[in-house]
Amino acid sequence: MSRLSSRHLLGLEGTPRKDIEAILKTADTFSEVLDRTIKKVPTLRGITVVNLFYEPSTRTRISFELAEKRLSADTVSFSLSTSSVKKGESLRDTLQNIEAMKIDMVVVRHTSAGVPYFLTRFSDANIINAGDGSHEHPTQALLDMYTIYKKYGKLDGLRVVLIGDVMHSRVIRSNIWGLKTMGASVALCGPATLLPYQVEQFGCDVYTNLDEALDGADVVNVMRIQLERQHSGLFPSQREYTKLFGINKDRLKHLKKNYTIMHPGPINRGVEITSDVADGSQSVILNQVTNGQAVRMAVLYLLSGKDEEEGVS
Ligand code: CP
Repeated sequence: MSRLSSRHLLGLEGTPRKDIEAILKTADTFSEVLDRTIKKVPTLRGITVVNLFYEPSTRTRISFELAEKRLSADTVSFSLSTSSVKKGESLRDTLQNIEAMKIDMVVVRHTSAGVPYFLTRFSDANIINAGDGSHEHPTQALLDMYTIYKKYGKLDGLRVVLIGDVMHSRVIRSNIWGLKTMGASVALCGPATLLPYQVEQFGCDVYTNLDEALDGADVVNVMRIQLERQHSGLFPSQREYTKLFGINKDRLKHLKKNYTIMHPGPINRGVEITSDVADGSQSVILNQVTNGQAVRMAVLYLLSGKDEEEGVS
């Protein structure tokens, strides 16, 4: 029985505050496990997790795989290029065949929005969304929130600016839902052509001027500008994007003194952020990656419903 309101993690839209709080609190316990010499607990012994990645990933995939191994789960990772998908097998057939091998949890990344939800319709496994198209990337937003929480001891009342392709970014979408649920003030900033229709319905402050968006902010979370969309004419040129929306040292004067720089990765250095800022003393970009482990361990544990006495310690 899941310890969260749902047996799946499909997105943060509609995820109650108590679930997010439970994940962040449990992440703290696993963060301590990761500081030990032997970074392994028997919590998910007997549970089998399949990582179904239909889209490239470095951070999310390795982070989930390590989280599963450190919880003592049995894990197997599916790679699109070496699978029977190449012979035309459908997503549904692929999952049903994998499920016939008695698995318990599925972590899925896919180019199409809604795939994790689709899988819940014919699978008994717990489904975790590791990024679905332009829809959501809930564990990324949870690790972002955990990173902010670790630094400030709160999320309530902080001003967080999310910069980039608001229309297509699943990281921005999940951050909006999660941060607003946790009481943060969220601002969005990007070129007008990359703001979705009726963007105001997110209930965030919306800017097309970066300096105005940064004014008085605590946290800046900079998104990758998706170079693969360069040809679709949504912004005039990479150079212009960098000039108008790139984060550099000069822009930092608008922020609060104890500001924080974040980026979910992968970074296009010199495009959406300069290297001196990405690697600077106020950057927590690598802390985000470290914290992702603890957050994913927490999500796997809470969804699995395994008894605490079976071993967080
Ligand atoms: N942040 C993130 O999702 O990175 P990957 O695409 O490398 O998993």
